[in-house]
Amino acid sequence: VQCVGQHLALIVGKSLKHCRNAAKLIELEYKVEKPVLTIEQAIAQDSYLTPPHIIRRGDIDKTLADAKHMLKGKVSTGGQDHFYLESQAALAIPDEQGTLHIHSSTQHPSEVQAKIGEVLGIPRERIVVETRRMGGGFGGKETQAAPVAALAALGAIVTKCPVKVWFNRDQDMTQTGKRHPFYSEYEVAFTDEGVIEGLKVKTFADGGWSCDLSQAILDRCLFHLDNSYYIPSLEFTGRVAKTNLVSNTAFRGFGGPQGVVVIEEVINRIGQTLNLDSTLVRQRNFYGEAPRNIAPYGQVIEDCRLQRIFEELMKSSSYTQRQNDIQKFNDESTWVKRGIAFQPVKFGISFTHSVLNQAGALVLIYSDGSIQLNHGGTEMGQGLHTKMLTICAHEFGVSKDRIRLMDTATDKVPNTSATAASSGSDLNGQAVREACKTLKARLRKVASKMLAVDTSHAHEISFVNNQAKAPNGNAVEFSDLVQTAYNSQVSL
Ligand code: HPA
Repeated sequence: VQCVGQHLALIVGKSLKHCRNAAKLIELEYKVEKPVLTIEQAIAQDSYLTPPHIIRRGDIDKTLADAKHMLKGKVSTGGQDHFYLESQAALAIPDEQGTLHIHSSTQHPSEVQAKIGEVLGIPRERIVVETRRMGGGFGGKETQAAPVAALAALGAIVTKCPVKVWFNRDQDMTQTGKRHPFYSEYEVAFTDEGVIEGLKVKTFADGGWSCDLSQAILDRCLFHLDNSYYIPSLEFTGRVAKTNLVSNTAFRGFGGPQGVVVIEEVINRIGQTLNLDSTLVRQRNFYGEAPRNIAPYGQVIEDCRLQRIFEELMKSSSYTQRQNDIQKFNDESTWVKRGIAFQPVKFGISFTHSVLNQAGALVLIYSDGSIQLNHGGTEMGQGLHTKMLTICAHEFGVSKDRIRLMDTATDKVPNTSATAASSGSDLNGQAVREACKTLKARLRKVASKMLAVDTSHAHEISFVNNQAKAPNGNAVEFSDLVQTAYNSQVSL
């Protein structure tokens, strides 16, 4: 047993009361060993889940040795529970011939399908995972919905009855992973003006007892340690510590905030050391024109508007005036103090494992002109379904009430990525658009006959106001066009 909250047994019964009473009858015997409970303890005991990952540029040790100013420090950030509105839950319904239909509260139906397949030793085609919507996910249902659904699936296969597993809030908080706490040590070299010459950071994430997404989260932290600042010489080393705590997981920002907070602390300390306003230190270190335009991971920062945005914001927020007012207030007020601060953020959207940046959609047009829209993303209150519906309605030029947005399901769109990494709208939106474009190309062939348009000009037929319209002014109702397409055996 690696941590408190680890699953040891599943009890399946006719009611929650039966299950809870049965659970009380289990007697467990443990030989208690000394647990690793903090990142510092893990470092001391060489307890890790991953090898170190390192990003390097220039000769950081020489830069630090030659520096006019040098500072060392440590930064720690704690964990956080996602507190999605409804806790983790799944319902597994056994179907014919050993197949399963799963309703899962998950950001990642395809992974739930895959993990159930692994647990039961069956191919994925036998499993359909469906997600209507979640009351918030925040990363907490990217991977951690899978064990819950796998337990339900196991129960359903064994009993041949529908099985629902649903954590109450206490179980959810003790048995599921949270934001990764991080511990970082830094050394920074800088000039009299507060310009950073070099930065060395060693950072450690508390992965808990198993890896989950910890490597990707640690990597994202490394990719955000520079934030919006050009650092000529650097060495960023990161490693995931293994502790005897629940396995930590994705949480909004996914390691990015944990990286940004380190460099922001560094900048504040440079400001304090040189007696300079830290806002000025920030501005002096921004990415800018070449050679100050290359990120530690080699990406060229194009169209960098940081200086301009900074100047406009300083003006529009009356920053200096407010800073002076606050200083005056603080000088006169003993107990109540006020503050003002400025901080830029450079944040990388999309999955760092780039193969995951793909999506799919399935659009079905019925011969009455109504439409079902399926896409690979999940809805968790962020409004993704509304956006997808809007794209589909826009492409076909029809009103939204003609389109039904279907529940996300692995039998409609397979092999999807998690709805995560700030990518749900961009990836699925383009998939929906592509699917609509494919169907429009088929419909245009039919429309060109109905509207007396030469087929070489079919692409000029537009879809607006529930009609297909030709440049010659002829128009046909969308539903009439679809009915005609059906009668001509065009695939919809
Ligand atoms: N990878 C995997 N999952 C994620 C990511 C990522 O980069 N960001 C948010 N969830």
